[in-house]
This record gives sequence, C-alpha cells and structure tokens, in this order.
Amino acid sequence: MSLLPYDDRDGLIWFDGAFVPWRDAKVHTICHGLHYGSAVFEGVRMYKGKIFKLEEHTERLFKSAEYLGMKILFTPDEINQACIDACAKNEVVDGYIRPIAWRGSEEMGISAQRTQTHVAIATWDWPSYFPKEIKEKGIALKTTHWKKPAPDTAPCFSKASGLYMVNTLAKHEAEAEGYQDVLMHDYRGYVAESSGANIFMVKGGVIYTPIADCFLNGITRATVFEMAEAAGLTLKEVRIMPDELLEADEIFITGTAVEVTPIGRIDKTLFNVGPITQQMMAAYTERTHAHEKEAAYA
Ligand SMILES: Cc1ncc(COP(=O)(O)O)c(C=O)c1O
Repeated sequence: MSLLPYDDRDGLIWFDGAFVPWRDAKVHTICHGLHYGSAVFEGVRMYKGKIFKLEEHTERLFKSAEYLGMKILFTPDEINQACIDACAKNEVVDGYIRPIAWRGSEEMGISAQRTQTHVAIATWDWPSYFPKEIKEKGIALKTTHWKKPAPDTAPCFSKASGLYMVNTLAKHEAEAEGYQDVLMHDYRGYVAESSGANIFMVKGGVIYTPIADCFLNGITRATVFEMAEAAGLTLKEVRIMPDELLEADEIFITGTAVEVTPIGRIDKTLFNVGPITQQMMAAYTERTHAHEKEAAYA
C-alpha cells in the first residue's frame, strides 16, 4: 500500500493564528514538545459539513493544556472558529480535525517555564477508522501487559501526547499478531480502555462501563450515556474485572475516531454483535448526522 505522507500534502494548516501551506507547517528539531512530550491534542470529526461536539473538544484541549501547565494564547472561541475555517479552506466535509498545542523552542531542558505554547490545526478527509467489513463483524482486541498508570503517576485526564507512548507499543504488538486493537487494564488490574477508545459491555440488557478514574473520559462515552438514557436503557459505571468482561453478552468501544465499534473477539473469547450494540451504533449515526434532518425540515 502506498501511503501519502502526512507532511507532503496539499492544503492549509492553521498555525498560531494564520493559515500556512500544508508543507510549511513545521516545528524546529529543538522543540520542548518533541523532546519532552509537552503536547496535548484533540481528535474531532466533521460529518456532512458540521463538526460534532466541537465546543466539548475545544474545552478538553484547554483542560488538557492546563493539566500540563501550558497556557494556550487563544480563546476557545478562536480555536472553534479556526477548526471551522480549516475545514472550509481544505474543503473537508466528512473528515477529521486535529488541533494540537505544544511547548516551543524558547527553552531546552526539563524546566520549560518560559516556552510559548503554540497551536496548530490540521484537517483531512477521513472515512471509517476500521474497514467496514471488519467493523460489521466486530474487531479483535488483544489484552496487553501495558497498564494505564495511576493518576499520581501520569496526568491521565489530559489528552497528552506522551501518554500515547504505551498505547502505540501495545497496538503495534497486537497488530503484529493479527488483532485490530488492544484491551488495556489499569494499574489495579481493572478493565480500562482500548488504545484510543473507551469500552462498554452489555450483560442481561444492562450496559456497564469502567469508572473513568485513570483514563480519558471520552466525549463519545458521554454521548453513549445520553443515547442509553434516551433509549430507556440502564447504564452503570462500575469496576470491571477482566474475567467479568469475558462473560459479557456484547462488548463495544467508543471514540471520536472509532465511533461505536463492536468487539468480536478478546484474545480467544468470541462475542456476537448484539442488539444493544447495534442500537448504539445506529443512534450514534443518527446524532452525528442530525443536522442534515434539521436542514431538511427547515
Ligand atoms: C486513549 C483514549 N481513550 C478514549 C478516547 C475516546 O475519547 P473521545 O470519545 O472523546 O474521542 C480516546 C480518543 O480520543 C483516546 O485516545
């Protein structure tokens, strides 16, 4: 498969307040974000010309930066507008938006009190995270030995670049064995999440999800709470042991990128794509595309 490198494309990237040609949106090799992982980012999606939960994502970007002691020199409204403008300038209608904020090159060393926080926003066309045929029958997760760290070990509520180091290691290991993604436990041994998505299980018609006390509390996760309530389904946040997860009737993961994706297998245990998972998938599509209906009825 020939890949189009992400730094060699046409288009424009919003960079510290102005649009620059895609290929010129560069940072210096001496950059704190690169050397010490002082960067936070977002993953946002546009559906049919409307960005889903843009304000929530921008709010999280600012919170993530705050956890790392970084001050973004723009307002949330300016970042929201920049995301919208980036999609318009690049003619993205169904795509992904990647805002990122990082500490610059003004200082080099562990202490970086005087670095400036830079912000860039790129966007590109992006259909489904997993191929449609794989998504329909459910993806396979491999349990990884990498653990989600405790809140006093890492700033686990920040969508911080550095936290993805173990996710990449885990996902590479899983892919090498033919799995699509990973199941990560937390530092206590409870079920936590996947490499870039939260996890839910269904048992006896009730939906359960791990308490988000050491991993990212996803915006899609919150949307599942809303959808379950609207459908009159019971959803509980609980601690889940790995053995309990394997006894579930249905399992699905959620995230801006993966949307609602069913799990067909965890290690050697198989799962069916059940009715509640299908209901959540349909409800999510409905919500992300609701504006089309609004326009049609206007
Ligand atoms: C590690 C991790 N957990 C969970 C999520 C799900 O978050 P959201 O639903 O806000 O995209 C993501 C994706 O951003 C993620 O990277």
